[in-house]
Order: sequence, then structure tokens, then C-alpha cells
Amino acid sequence: MSETARMILDGQEYEFPVITGSENEKAIDISKLRGSTGYITMDPGFKNTGSTQSGITYLDGEHGVLRYRGYAIEELAEKASFIEVAYLLIYGDLPNKEQLAYFNDSITHHTIVHENMKRFFDAFPLGAHPMGMLSSMVASLSTFYPESQNPNRDITDIDLTIHRLIAKLPTLAAQAYKHNVGLPTMYPKNNLSYVGNFMHMMWGVPAEDYEVDPIVESALNKLFILHADHEQNCSTSTVRVVGSSQANLYSSVSAGVSALWGPLHGGANQAVIEMLEAIRAEGSPLQSWIDRAKDKTDSFRLMGFGHRVYKNFDPRARIIKRAADEVLGQLGVNDPVLDIAKQLEEVALNDDYFVQRGLYPNVDFYSGIIYRALGIPTDMFTVMFALGRLPGWIGQWKEMTENREPIGRPRQVYVGASERAFTSLDAR
Ligand code: CMC
Repeated sequence: MSETARMILDGQEYEFPVITGSENEKAIDISKLRGSTGYITMDPGFKNTGSTQSGITYLDGEHGVLRYRGYAIEELAEKASFIEVAYLLIYGDLPNKEQLAYFNDSITHHTIVHENMKRFFDAFPLGAHPMGMLSSMVASLSTFYPESQNPNRDITDIDLTIHRLIAKLPTLAAQAYKHNVGLPTMYPKNNLSYVGNFMHMMWGVPAEDYEVDPIVESALNKLFILHADHEQNCSTSTVRVVGSSQANLYSSVSAGVSALWGPLHGGANQAVIEMLEAIRAEGSPLQSWIDRAKDKTDSFRLMGFGHRVYKNFDPRARIIKRAADEVLGQLGVNDPVLDIAKQLEEVALNDDYFVQRGLYPNVDFYSGIIYRALGIPTDMFTVMFALGRLPGWIGQWKEMTENREPIGRPRQVYVGASERAFTSLDAR
């Protein structure tokens, strides 16, 4: 017998179906609630609201489980390439050799961005935040490739748009960096791996041959995989909602980049390093920072701590913490900020406030320390997150499109003024 939920409203009983996911997750389907009762539900921040039935990423926040299409994140981070994971997230399965070769080849052939787009960079002020530049440039891609705007969603056009976007995001990200450091942009080198090519465009200069350091390449590959999808987070939900109006993929992902930029989301990786640097500069005891984070009259929060879904540990953070030790060791970097981060984690994890609320280091707590060791400037950290998250945004947009999901449009309870008569300016 299928499970149902019963609700009593004004003495009348209503039944709602219960949906069970493949990992036994339960949801009450209230899609007919308003039609049958006249009521809506209230859930600010969507803390208890499922927006879709998705087959992409499984996450169990209580037990620290994260899987892409059924594969454990720990295994993918260890054994896969980022491009394989991108294929997996977007197309549903790990690619075989032919599929991977085709995917790689297609992406490789779209890495150059239109020359005219370089002029957009000229107009940005020096020191413009690269996330602002990235979001604008991604939206601009739709103007250069109008077939992406076809709302009939021809499958060939969609694939072309997907491959173009994956190919061009690293080029745009590196160009944003070059703009700020005043160095000439580098054209892609298509004999390099996806990650290696990005490194070449970031750190290569026209006068010299750039050699891809395998330690850096492998670290970035791992970080990109760990960031590649995280089910219905803020930026992904943004991508799906924007896409649900049948806006094109570039515009939808541009909105996702903007959502990611906020310090409560992907922007936390920049905020963590700034916080750790401030702790180092001030030299005040760690406990005083913890006390500030607990003080409800102080807006300060421990950045890189806490998560909407993980209430035990964030499996990505565990892998990244280990990787931070490894990568810094391999590169011979001694960053005092890593020690501060570890001490801060220890103090927080032994503090009742953090324990009771299930606040643990999240993916952003240690990632910035690795990015720094790799030579990536602080304001580029969230761009690195965006590069990693791109296949997730695309896979989720594609799923939403293929499922023909309705336009995203929540309701509200109005609490403003009741109807009143207009008064002329003199009478006010
Ligand atoms: N420092 C101090 N207190 C915190 C923190 C923190 N970092 N995070 C949550 N709390 C407290 C919060 O004040 C609340 O306390 P109380 O119950 O007494 O009111 C309780 O913990 C629950 O927090 P919440 O704000 O209701 O939880 P949320 O699910 O709405 O927010 C969060 C999740 C990630 C926005 C939040 O934990 C936060 O602001 N963390 C710092 C920013 C950060 O690291 N963001 C990166 C998230 S992981 C990357 C990503 O995928 O975006």
C-alpha cells in the first residue's frame, strides 16, 4: 500500500502522497495543496522544501555521504579526471573510451573565446572582482552564440552550448586574472589536459614555454571534482529557477555564478583566508574569535564552518584537509595559516556551541589554503569553485529541461498594508 500523509485543516482531513527516493528519502507531495485546501506552506530559505526529484547527486548530511550518480566522492576524487566526472554528471554515466575521446575533442575545439570578447575585459577597471567579470562574460556568450537562445531546445544545439561553455569557462577565468595583473592573455593550448590548459592560460606568458606541474594539475583536478555538484544548493537552485523560464544555458549559469559569489556560499573560501589572515595579523587568542562567532550581537561568523545539510561532517572537507597537508608538503610550502586553521578547528569542535548546532568545517575551510599554495590569488578562489561547479550546474539545468519542470515561482503570505486610498502629494 502506498504511503500517504494526512492533514487536518478546519476540521477537514486531506491526504497527500508520500514520495520515496532510491535511498529511502521521504517527501510529502504537496503539489495539490493549494488547489484542494486554499493554503500554501511557509518555509523561508527552503529548509524543508524539495524542489525536484533528481537523479544526479545523493547527499546524506547526517552521515556525511556524498555520491555523484551513485559513485562515492572519495573514489571519484582519487581515481577520476575532472572531465570524466563532468561527463558523468551531465550525461548520467561514466564515459567509455570513445565517449571520453569525443567529449574531450569537442571541448578542446571550443576553448578559444571570440576575439571581440577581449574588448569587454578592456572596459573593466583594474582590480575588478573576477567573479563579477566571469558572470558578465558568461552571460555575454549567449549574444555570440544565438542558437543557445532557442527555447525549443534542439538536442544538437544544447550539446554544442554545453561543450562550448565547458571549454570557454577556464579561458574566461584566466583572462579575468590576466586583466587584473596586466599581463597579455594566453591563447589555449589544445594538447594539454583541461586542467593543464587552464594552468597554461593562468600562468603562462608569451615569451616562455609553460610547463604544467603535475602536482598542481593533480591538486586542481581533485578540487574541481570535489566541487563539481552538490544537489540543490543556492547557486544550483538559481540555475534551475532561471532555466525554468526557458532562459538559455549561458544566462542561467551566469546567474549561478552570481549566486555562488556570496560569502555564505562559494565566496566563503575567500572569506576564510581573509579571516585567517586577520587572526594572524591581530595575534589575539583563538578563543576570542570563537566567542565573537557565538555572540548573537556580533555579525561575525566563523567562515568555512557550518552547512545547511551537513550536520556531522562534510566529506569534502575531510578530503581537502588531507590534500592540504599533502600538497603543501609536495610543493615545500609552509603556510602558517594552515596551522591557525587546524587550531581554530580544534577549539571550535570542542566548544558546546558548535557541537550542539552541528557546525563543522565545510568544503571552503581548507580549500583556500591549497589554492594559495598553488599561487592563486585570493579573489580568484571563488572562480576556482565556479570552474569546478560548472558540470553540476549544467547537469542540473539539463535534467530540469528534460523533465519539462514548471517555471519556478514560489508564493508568499502578504503582510503589508491593506487597501487604502491614494492621497495627493499636498495632503501627505
Ligand atoms: N559561525 C557561528 N555560528 C554559526 C555559523 C558559523 N559559521 N553557522 C551557523 N551558525 C549558527 C547560527 O547562528 C544558528 O544559531 P542559532 O540556532 O543559535 O540561531 C545555527 O548555527 C544554525 O545556523 P543557520 O544560519 O540557521 O544555518 P543555515 O543552514 O541557514 O546556514 C550557512 C548555513 C552555511 C549559511 C551557515 O552555517 C554559515 O553562514 N556559515 C559560514 C559561511 C560558510 O562557510 N559558507 C560556506 C558553506 S559550504 C560551501 C557551499 O556549498 O556553499
